[in-house]
Amino acid sequence: MTNHIVVVGSINIDHVVRLARLPKPGETIRGENYQTFFGGKGANQAIAAARCGAPVMMLGNLGEDDAGRAAKKNLEVNGVDTYWIVNDPQTTTGMAMILVEEAGQNMIAVVGGANMRLSPQHIEESADLFREARLIIVQLEIPLETVSAAVSFARKTGAHVVLNPSPGQILPDSVLTRVDSLVLNETELALIEGDSSIEVSAGKLTQRSGARVIVTLGGEGAAICAPDHALEYLPSHNVKVVDTVGAGDAFVGAYAAAVVEGKPFAEAVAWGNAAGALAVTKMGAQSALPLRDDVMHLIREMPAKKG
Ligand code: RIB
Repeated sequence: MTNHIVVVGSINIDHVVRLARLPKPGETIRGENYQTFFGGKGANQAIAAARCGAPVMMLGNLGEDDAGRAAKKNLEVNGVDTYWIVNDPQTTTGMAMILVEEAGQNMIAVVGGANMRLSPQHIEESADLFREARLIIVQLEIPLETVSAAVSFARKTGAHVVLNPSPGQILPDSVLTRVDSLVLNETELALIEGDSSIEVSAGKLTQRSGARVIVTLGGEGAAICAPDHALEYLPSHNVKVVDTVGAGDAFVGAYAAAVVEGKPFAEAVAWGNAAGALAVTKMGAQSALPLRDDVMHLIREMPAKKG
């Protein structure tokens, strides 16, 4: 086993409209500007980890189109090994329509395209890739059976498995009990464990999965617990919010990079908090992901807010 992180997940092109406020159902609102960005939770997390200094390889599926070619090139430019990324001529590269309001909040609709055709067979055909991994990261913008195959495979090799169950979905115990770290927001936690307090739901999820549970709380930082770690709140940093798209992905990638470096649980979460805070200060998903030096600088120079 090497020190590699393997990301199994989605690659998208994000079409982003910035507007004063988010529309209500049936309402039309004039947008202020429109831009495209490289996105997709898998690709975002791969680049976030690479920018934090980790060696990263990615398994994903692209359409045979200009969008796919550009997204692949962008991963390479950002230091992600794309050797295992496959192409599917039957479909198009994944895309997301994103609305971002002035206060930074967003709405996202994703069309999976090629991402949803990444299959368990692709996992089987990538056995050599999994042998390289010290840690694997998966999210839910690919089919659940593929996620399940990936975590089973990783389990056999002894890699640390990080699951970011986003977009939220109810998950079987066969998946939950095979992961080592679960990074999710409050909405995703409520979907999996029911609408209770964070303390109760995170505790239940830790018990059920046996994993570290990290609940991201936006500007408030994260709540963490594990079988050997009572629930604790770790605050984030004071920053000016421009766009929250990709903040969760920045968190996951930085957290994973810290874990492969052998950082203790709370320190790895501090990397995640800092990367997430920096990511909201710029527009776009991948364009906003911070470099390792920026993450370290924020942790050193701008202590997290008091809880
Ligand atoms: O987490 C943010 C990402 O979600 C965006 O980049 C978009 O592609 C959607 O997948």
